[in-house]
Amino acid sequence: MPTVSMTVNGKSVSGDVSANTLLVDFLRETLGMTGTHVGCDTSQCGACVVHVEGKAAKSCTRLAVQCEGAAVTTIEGLASGGDLHPMQEAFRDNHGLQCGFCTPGMIMAGVDLANRRGNKLDEDTIRNELDGNICRCTGYHNIVKAIAAGAAAMDK
Ligand code: FES
Ligand code: FES
Repeated sequence: MPTVSMTVNGKSVSGDVSANTLLVDFLRETLGMTGTHVGCDTSQCGACVVHVEGKAAKSCTRLAVQCEGAAVTTIEGLASGGDLHPMQEAFRDNHGLQCGFCTPGMIMAGVDLANRRGNKLDEDTIRNELDGNICRCTGYHNIVKAIAAGAAAMDK
C-alpha cells in the first residue's frame, strides 16, 4: 500500500492509500475533512472542487498519489482564524445557498475564478465559468451574485 504525503491547508499530512484512492476519499475518509463533498464522482457536479497548487481541481477525478508533495486547499482552509474568507462572506450575505451541498465546491470554484479572471466579474463570465458546478436548489441567481460580490471583496 503506498503512502502519500502532501500539505493540506498548510499542514503536512500523510497516510496509507491504495493506488486508486481518489483525492476526495483521502480528504474525507483518511483525514476526516468532510467539507469537500461528493455529488456524482463522474466529474460533472463540482461539489468536490478543491485547490491543488492554487488551482481548482475536481478531487473526485484525481488520485491521491497524483498529489504527492502537492499543496492542497479545501473549504476548511479558506477562513483565517475566526474570519470567513470574503467569498464565504459573500455567499452568506447574498443567500447563495439553500441545502449547501454544492456550496464548498462553488466557493472554491469562485475563488479560483477570481484568481484567474480578476475581481470585476460580469454575470456571463461567472455563468460560463460555473459550467462544471451544478446546484440542485438555488437556480444559480444568488450564487452568481455571491461570486461577483466575493470576487470584488477579494480585491480589498
Ligand atoms: S463529485 Fe466530483 S464532480 Fe461531482
Ligand atoms: S444549495 Fe443545494 S445543491 Fe446547491
